[in-house]
Amino acid sequence: MSRVFITGSSDGLGLLAARRLVAEGHRVTLHARNQRRADDTQAALPQADGVLIGDLSAMAGMRQVAGQANEAGRFDAVIHNAGIGPREPRRVGTDDGLAHVFAVNVLAPYLLTALTERPGRLVYLSSGLHRGGHASLDDAQWTHRRWDGAQAYSDSKLFDVALAFAVARRWPAVRSNAVGPGWVPTKMGGPGASDDLSLGSVTQAWLAVSDDPTAMVSGEYFYHQQPEQTNPAARDIAFQDELLGYCAQLTGTELGG
Ligand SMILES: NC(=O)c1ccc[n+]([C@@H]2O[C@H](COP(=O)([O-])OP(=O)(O)OC[C@H]3O[C@@H](n4cnc5c(N)ncnc54)[C@H](OP(=O)(O)O)[C@@H]3O)[C@@H](O)[C@H]2O)c1
Repeated sequence: MSRVFITGSSDGLGLLAARRLVAEGHRVTLHARNQRRADDTQAALPQADGVLIGDLSAMAGMRQVAGQANEAGRFDAVIHNAGIGPREPRRVGTDDGLAHVFAVNVLAPYLLTALTERPGRLVYLSSGLHRGGHASLDDAQWTHRRWDGAQAYSDSKLFDVALAFAVARRWPAVRSNAVGPGWVPTKMGGPGASDDLSLGSVTQAWLAVSDDPTAMVSGEYFYHQQPEQTNPAARDIAFQDELLGYCAQLTGTELGG
């Protein structure tokens, strides 16, 4: 039995992964953006240990969630799942002045990783679209460029893979991997999504708890329980370090070695 914390588990793949893990006998802690969503989430999965609350678009909310996670005690695994999709029609700025997609998809997993007591395993939800991401932090907040939601999303998902690999390199005692769940019909994926929803939560749950030798690795990207090649930039150590440095500068919090 493992204790697993899943961000963004009020809906979609996060909730599905939680259901899967609870059904396998694991203890799962959920997360929702506010009290109303937390009530919905607890009702959706009453067997969960509890629901942590915080809006991951704001650094204050990220810190709030990390504080609650530490109060709950060390987790065996954390699945960084919360995310914003590629369809924002214009740049949405957060209270911290960041691009919404960057804040939720990249900075939140970074800051939660840095502030939460180190688990045995970390899983970061990326996407096959990361392959079209640009490994550049020039104007990462989209204040100078014309907004392109699909590109901002692809970039954020490349940054997630680079973050997973950077953590794997910096923290050799922790298994840190990224997952592309396929294009599946959640709120984010939309009704036209072509991949199998029932498979969309399998790989992240498996990486979080399984003793299967294929899952007992670190610094890999998986799709449907198989390691896959990534955008080569994700393995570029200089880029990984640049990303960590940028996130540390924005948050005032270092990842640590
Ligand atoms: N669906 C796909 O086809 C697909 C493909 C590739 C990758 N992914 C990745 O898989 C992950 C899960 O996606 P999904 O399809 O399950 O999306 P989803 O159905 O839209 O669910 C996203 C989850 O994140 C939460 N969330 C979003 N913004 C938040 C914020 N500011 N604070 C706290 N929670 C927040 C949502 O809360 P609310 O319920 O309150 O909105 C929800 O629980 C994402 O990282 C996504 O990039 C999905």
